[in-house]
Amino acid sequence: MCGIVGYIGKREAASVLLDGLKRLEYRGYDSAGIAILKDKRINVAKIVGRVKQLAESERIRALQGTTGIAHTRWATHGKPSERNAHPHGDCTSTIFVVHNGIIENYKELKQNLEQEGHTFTSETDTEVIAHLVEKFKKEGNNLETSVKKSLKLMKGAYAILVMAEFEPETLVAARLSSPLRIGIGTNEFIIASDPSAILNYTQEIVTLRDGEIAVLEEDGYTISSLEENRIIDREAEQVEWDLEQAEKGGFAHFMLKEIFEQPETIENSLRGRVMVDEGLVKLGGLDAVKEELRQIERLTIVACGTAYYAGLVGEYMIEEYAGIPVETCIASEFRYRKPILIPKKDAVLVLSQSGETADTLAAVSEAKEKGILSLGIVNVIGSTIAQNTDAGIYNHAGPEIGVASTKVFVSQLTVLALFTLFLGRQRQMSLTMGKRITEELLKIPDHVRTILETDKSIFEITQRYVNYPDFFFLGRKYNYPIALEGALKLKEISYIHAEGGSSGELKHGPIAMIDPNFPSIFICPKDSVYEKNLSNMEEVKARQGKIIAVATEGDDEIQKIADEVIFIPKTLEMLTPLLSVIPLQLFAYHAAVLKGKDVDKPRNLAKSVTVE
Ligand code: F6R
Repeated sequence: MCGIVGYIGKREAASVLLDGLKRLEYRGYDSAGIAILKDKRINVAKIVGRVKQLAESERIRALQGTTGIAHTRWATHGKPSERNAHPHGDCTSTIFVVHNGIIENYKELKQNLEQEGHTFTSETDTEVIAHLVEKFKKEGNNLETSVKKSLKLMKGAYAILVMAEFEPETLVAARLSSPLRIGIGTNEFIIASDPSAILNYTQEIVTLRDGEIAVLEEDGYTISSLEENRIIDREAEQVEWDLEQAEKGGFAHFMLKEIFEQPETIENSLRGRVMVDEGLVKLGGLDAVKEELRQIERLTIVACGTAYYAGLVGEYMIEEYAGIPVETCIASEFRYRKPILIPKKDAVLVLSQSGETADTLAAVSEAKEKGILSLGIVNVIGSTIAQNTDAGIYNHAGPEIGVASTKVFVSQLTVLALFTLFLGRQRQMSLTMGKRITEELLKIPDHVRTILETDKSIFEITQRYVNYPDFFFLGRKYNYPIALEGALKLKEISYIHAEGGSSGELKHGPIAMIDPNFPSIFICPKDSVYEKNLSNMEEVKARQGKIIAVATEGDDEIQKIADEVIFIPKTLEMLTPLLSVIPLQLFAYHAAVLKGKDVDKPRNLAKSVTVE
């Protein structure tokens, strides 16, 4: 995820900024850059690669001055390159901006600015901010007003820092849905997206809130609200975190942080893509293949591990709502079997967080070899899979640091729901159904927040069950893949034996294992297979098997059968996996912590599997 650092004070800004960028490295990035103001001139240095390279570069030695801004970029718009690295400048190279987030309407803004004569040098959404500030400055506004006027035109999410030669004593900061904090030192300020870049200098921190803008000068600062234009008086907080805690946002592990940031992850995957009134989705990455997709008659989804389970959910979604036959394959199988794929009729969709998984990449090559349209749902921009597929959709989930995938899984489900809508509306799906799905999708982040609030009771349930040696995870239809994912999560990080499967298959063999010492976790929301699932639960109960159920709020029936119930809010059946997986992630997490395991780095596992 991108990181921002800014400095205004008496020290050499470069050393504070580079130190801050190093502290932000754990968030993941592909390029970095820095801009420093001296004698009313701004000088910039950028690199593709590590902060260390930037710190050792010739250019950085020439950057002296006591005011500056810096950034680590994790590509979202445009591939990793020096041109796309921040800070971004205006036409005159005298106004510079660093930005985290996504400007949803940047294409439209860019087009208007180009028509007015502005020349762009990068592919980023961020560059529009520098040109907007330039435009308003030319109309006679000061830096603060120029930034405010620019922000009023922007839709999306942002944390920004702006500096300009025409007002060299000022730094402007603003945020909307992306964090930004001001560290208050003695006659100096360190502004950063993440407290870890500040804590080395001060523990007094003021957090900017959504819709606020701060104007900083060496001897003071003001915060005002963008909408009402009134000055806000906010006390600094004393942040007691050490640096390690700060990196994890105060959470004990990256995995827990990532589980808790899932509402925002889903919002980021949806941002700018949903048009509720038309019941449509906008997926820019598919524009070039839109007509080919209208013609396809079959889809093969290929992925590994957790991404494969997301693919299985996608299979149910696409078959039910877009009417296209789908087969989901494990990538390591797909590459060695004989897939029957017919050009123009078939398409292959691969899912990959890293975009580098060797088996998944091989599936893309296989599809290409056969002349089959290949699509990707990938999290890492510019990764090999993203480059090698014909078209695709980025997750925009930000880097996932915990080895066991959590937030990217829910993001994959979100994007698959969007893709289903895209394909469905190209075919028979009605406007009413399109609207219904989009409306429900937009409610999912708040539903996830509701589930996360029940973490304490999930922890208590885990405490009661953590010493059982084996678990079944069982579900049907949309929640069958979630049972598989729940079992995988528990195995991966707690090393407790767990098997995932379909509730309907239980009586065909696995039920032989059930006894009072072998608990089952049933994912049993009120959906089209609810009654069937209840019957399967009864089969387990009749054999004295203990049951933990994940059920829909207000379901009194289930409490009569299950020993423990974790409730999730009601949503459309196709979207239940986005909710039902959350308690399973928390169950696995708490079990692993209670067992004293290294949650973020489970034994024998790697984050990116680049070998066969
Ligand atoms: C499990 C997990 C793995 C990955 C799999 C594919 O928690 O993370 O099962 O999902 O290795 O990786 P990507 O998505 O990078 O292709």
